[in-house]
Amino acid sequence: MAQSNKVQQYWNTRGLRESLDDHSRLGGSAGFREHPVWFGALPPLLERPAGGRVIRRIADMGSGTGIIAEYLARLGYEVIAVEFAESRARLAEQRLAPYPMASVRVGDVADPPIAPGEIDAVISRNLLWLLPDPLAVLERWALLTGKNGRIAAIDSTRRLDHRKRRAGLTEFSKHLLSKKKPAAHSAQLLQTSAAPLANIRTPDESAGYWRQAGLLNVSAQDLSWITAVKEHYEHPVSRYLSVSKYYSVIGDCP
Ligand SMILES: C[S@@+](CC[C@H](N)C(=O)[O-])C[C@H]1O[C@@H](n2cnc3c(N)ncnc32)[C@H](O)[C@@H]1O
Repeated sequence: MAQSNKVQQYWNTRGLRESLDDHSRLGGSAGFREHPVWFGALPPLLERPAGGRVIRRIADMGSGTGIIAEYLARLGYEVIAVEFAESRARLAEQRLAPYPMASVRVGDVADPPIAPGEIDAVISRNLLWLLPDPLAVLERWALLTGKNGRIAAIDSTRRLDHRKRRAGLTEFSKHLLSKKKPAAHSAQLLQTSAAPLANIRTPDESAGYWRQAGLLNVSAQDLSWITAVKEHYEHPVSRYLSVSKYYSVIGDCP
């Protein structure tokens, strides 16, 4: 099976086990993805687009269960959530059902089911760091919004010893708990192994890809205020493993 199909299958299987009202897994860290702190992170990503472009319609790429799409809908935007795992797209549909201006499309963010000019902006959270070719994806997104469209993403830097720590814990838990490797771990490693943004130290390394994609007015912001809230919620073991620090990058299309 091709790598991208395996990744899609992983997320689809994960979606089959999820429900919209399960906020308590992983000692609160999963619930953190829906914490109101994220609500405050979104408006700055959409401020002052080039040429005074008015932003009305936004694509939430790799929407998962539609958390960010819902926040955008609540802020009054028209939203198209794009997600390739059917099960997660169905959950996003459930979540977005109360918002008539929000919809979900099943598709790959590398070739999204969106026509050029259909949207004014693209937002993604926790997506680009998973992708094998973020540069190609950014170039593709720029064609969707056209001139002065806004591309924005929230992601996280990861320390280079992240995987070593995880691997160590996996070994330890194998002895302690079972002989089996947890499925989620192996799938996550599978995705990060070929993703250039999975092991960066500074937000500027990510911004470099945006500049290479030809985006203008590129700037990276540290979102340590969000990281701080996340750490507050985490179980000490998850906190030890979760060495990621949130940041955002924005850019305007030429
Ligand atoms: C870490 S989750 C983040 C979900 C959501 N953006 C959020 O922050 O809650 C990554 C999501 O991106 C989706 N995804 C990964 N690669 C994708 C691709 N190439 N095309 C579409 N969706 C993708 C996964 O299925 C998963 O739902």
